[in-house]
This record gives sequence, structure tokens and C-alpha cells, in this order.
Amino acid sequence: MTTLYGDLATWWPLLSAVEDYEEEAAFFTDLLLRSGARKGASLLELGAGGGNNAFHMKSSFGSMTLTDLSAGMLGVSQALNPDCEHLQGDMRTLRLGRQFDVVFVHDAVEYMTTVVDLRQAITTAWTHCVPGGCALFVPDHVRETFEPYTSHGGHDGAGRGLRYLEWVYDPDPDDTACTVEYVCVLREDGKPTRVELEQHRCGVFPRDTWLGLLREIGFEPDIVTDNFERELFLARRPG
Ligand SMILES: C[S@@+](CC[C@H](N)C(=O)[O-])C[C@H]1O[C@@H](n2cnc3c(N)ncnc32)[C@H](O)[C@@H]1O
Repeated sequence: MTTLYGDLATWWPLLSAVEDYEEEAAFFTDLLLRSGARKGASLLELGAGGGNNAFHMKSSFGSMTLTDLSAGMLGVSQALNPDCEHLQGDMRTLRLGRQFDVVFVHDAVEYMTTVVDLRQAITTAWTHCVPGGCALFVPDHVRETFEPYTSHGGHDGAGRGLRYLEWVYDPDPDDTACTVEYVCVLREDGKPTRVELEQHRCGVFPRDTWLGLLREIGFEPDIVTDNFERELFLARRPG
């Protein structure tokens, strides 16, 4: 468990604010409804984090079950989405014993850094998807479009504020992962300002790896490009 999603989880809304997700969440909702999910469908999210997408999507779905590896992140989402079910679990091994009309996996899928991990996460999505339903995977990159970049941001809250620098680069283009460095500056009233430095490994897979795994497991996948130039994998489970 990283500090960002562990000890620092309560800072998440100041790193990644819910209002910043409105546009992409509307795109995902529209895509899922146009792809056959009925209004009122059940949705399972794997790696829901702070629940920012869920906040904007939940009014279009009948029920949302939000899962994540981190209890702290689930607590943040619970405060934002008290009307959703929250369950702790690893997307590689989670087995709830029930199925959903839609399985949604946003940027948390980036934490799958090997083909073995990615196959396990797709298998979890398949296992929880009803025949005739679909799964939507939203990786930040595929190998073919990966570019190193640096970004920064942050927000102020009650008595505290956070600013971050994110530096994404790929030390070895021949493997299936890149490196993300986070520098977070945390300011709280009455306390010394502190800096947290954290390195994450994130997956970068070629399109054919995605498509091959999805087909191997039984999905019928399509690639859809969103407004942020990301390639999304929309995968139907045959009925
Ligand atoms: C960038 S955050 C997700 C933010 C989310 N999209 C939102 O709307 O707030 C990434 C999340 O992935 C979760 N995560 C990392 N590895 C995971 C795994 N193996 N299974 C489930 N969740 C995982 C982390 O705990 C973290 O909450």
C-alpha cells in the first residue's frame, strides 16, 4: 500500500477534486448507456479510489458497488457517496459471488504492471459481469501512445491545502511498466509544512496485449477514444 492511498488518503480530495471528473464521468456514462446498459443497471467499480467518477455516474445507474484495495480511500468515497455500497478488495482476486450489468475499471488499472496482473483483473471483471453485460477499462496509456509528461495541481480545503508535482517517465520501454514520481506539499494550519515523495510503478501495455487478453477471457472488445485522447477498452460479455 502506498502512502498516497494509505496514510495520506484523507488528502485525496485536495489532490484530485471531484469537480475535475465531471466531463470524463459524463463520457463514460453516455458510452455505457449507448452500448446497451439500461438506465438503472447495476455497476461494479474495481479500484474506485475516492469515488470521484462514481459521484457523477451514480444517478444514471440503479446501484453502484465501489471496491478498492485501500480502506482509507474507501472511507473517502464513503463520505462522498454514502448511497453506494463499499467493499474492500484487490481487483486481481476479488470474488463477490454476484454479477453486475456493468463492470467499470478506471485509472486504478494502471496498478496492474505485468501481464499476469492484467489477466487477473480482466478475469475479475469477467467473473462479475452478467452474460450480455459489459466492462469498461480506462488505462491512462497504451504502449503505442505513451509519452513522458509532467503535471502539477492541487486544491485548498478547510485549514489545509495540497500541491503536487507528477512526473511520468519510462526507464525501460521494453517492459510493461512506467514510473510515476509524486511530490506532494502538505500545508495544515498550525503545523509545519511537509513534503511527501513517493514513487509508483504503473502498467503500460500494447493494444494487442489488451485485446488479446480480453478475447482470451471471452470478451468481445472495442477500442474507443475519449476527449482526453485515451484509448478505452469497451468489452462485451456475449449473452
Ligand atoms: C488514482 S486512484 C483512483 C481514483 C478514482 N478513479 C477516483 O475516482 O477517485 C487509484 C486507486 O487504485 C487503488 N488500487 C491500486 N491497486 C489496486 C488493486 N490491486 N485492487 C484494487 N484497487 C487498487 C488504490 O488504492 C487507489 O485508490
